Amino acid sequence: MAVKTCLMIGASGMAGGWIERMTQQLGDRIQIVGLVDVNEEVLSAQGAKLGLVADQLFADYREACAKVQADFCGIATPPQFHSPQAITALEAGMPVICEKPIADTLEAAKAMAAKAEETGLPCAIIQNYRYAPNKQEVVRIREEGRLGRLQHIFGRYACDYRQYKSWGKEWRHDMDFSLLFEGSVHHFDMMRFLAGGDCEVLQGFGWNPAWSSFKHYSSGFYLMRMDNGVHTAYEGNSSAAGITSCWHREYYRLEFEEGTVEIGAGDEVRIYRVEQEVEVYAAPTMEWAGHDYLFKEFVDWLEGGKASATRIEDNLQSFALVIAAMETTMDGQPKRIADYL
Ligand SMILES: NC(=O)c1ccc[n+]([C@@H]2O[C@H](COP(=O)([O-])OP(=O)(O)OC[C@H]3O[C@@H](n4cnc5c(N)ncnc54)[C@H](O)[C@@H]3O)[C@@H](O)[C@H]2O)c1
Repeated sequence: MAVKTCLMIGASGMAGGWIERMTQQLGDRIQIVGLVDVNEEVLSAQGAKLGLVADQLFADYREACAKVQADFCGIATPPQFHSPQAITALEAGMPVICEKPIADTLEAAKAMAAKAEETGLPCAIIQNYRYAPNKQEVVRIREEGRLGRLQHIFGRYACDYRQYKSWGKEWRHDMDFSLLFEGSVHHFDMMRFLAGGDCEVLQGFGWNPAWSSFKHYSSGFYLMRMDNGVHTAYEGNSSAAGITSCWHREYYRLEFEEGTVEIGAGDEVRIYRVEQEVEVYAAPTMEWAGHDYLFKEFVDWLEGGKASATRIEDNLQSFALVIAAMETTMDGQPKRIADYL
């Protein structure tokens, strides 16, 4: 297994986490050979940590893509930069792995997917929550038919972000539909993953409570009908004040033919059957989880392994749900997802 070189766009925030993982857990598979960030201080501090010299550090991704010949490009900048940066990297011949959401608009996301298709280069999107022991166990329960058929799923995300900037950065509190673009994209993707189907129709509501720290809607309810007959209901709340189900602790309840499965914080899986003791057990551990799983899956793909499950062609389905949710929030009408793809 040869080490894959990486041009990394973004150096702090989530990108700082990427750099840590790539150099620690995946240090024998990935080597960062170029770094881009618009923040000079962050760029020089991270560059020094990585042992990079001046001509490997860039403020402008276009210059970096023209000068650095890496085996792939990693992108962990705010959403509106993903598509232009990915397109530039793909045009320079570099496969791309990029943070969610794919982009800030449907047009930008489709342009990125079209460039991946045109160049034939791998392009994967991060959906780290799929790769958690409890989520993987629920999918095994469904696939193996341990509780018969699945009828519907309830999902709940609730974070106490009532203080401005409590969700990391100002931009997350200032942008339109941050619940959907920054939060629900994970949960909509999870509904597809847990249900084992793609969404046919989505409908819902969004609102901003008076005490919200967000300029736009922090909360919403969204319903989906999937193409395999499974229905889903989702509660999203970035202004939670009581029972929280925040990152890595989101609550999912799946109603099967022969029982109910419940997951939330930790690896515990609870199975309820009418008039029986609740079955509680820890989901089997995973050797690779979260971002590490996705980075490993991606470099394996570059070496001829199977394509990432969350490659852009597939993940457009999850991103379309964000756009459809935004539109149903505005006009109250059900949205057919096929119309967005
Ligand atoms: N998968 C997850 O669990 C998860 C969690 C948090 C954030 N994210 C995603 O990560 C991405 C980044 O979020 P964040 O909170 O780290 O953002 P951020 O504002 O902290 O930015 C990340 C880095 O990108 C740099 N940057 C900004 N604009 C740039 C540009 N045009 N060119 C080069 N560098 C630029 C910033 O200076 C910063 O160092 C978003 O898409 C977000 O949705 C994912």
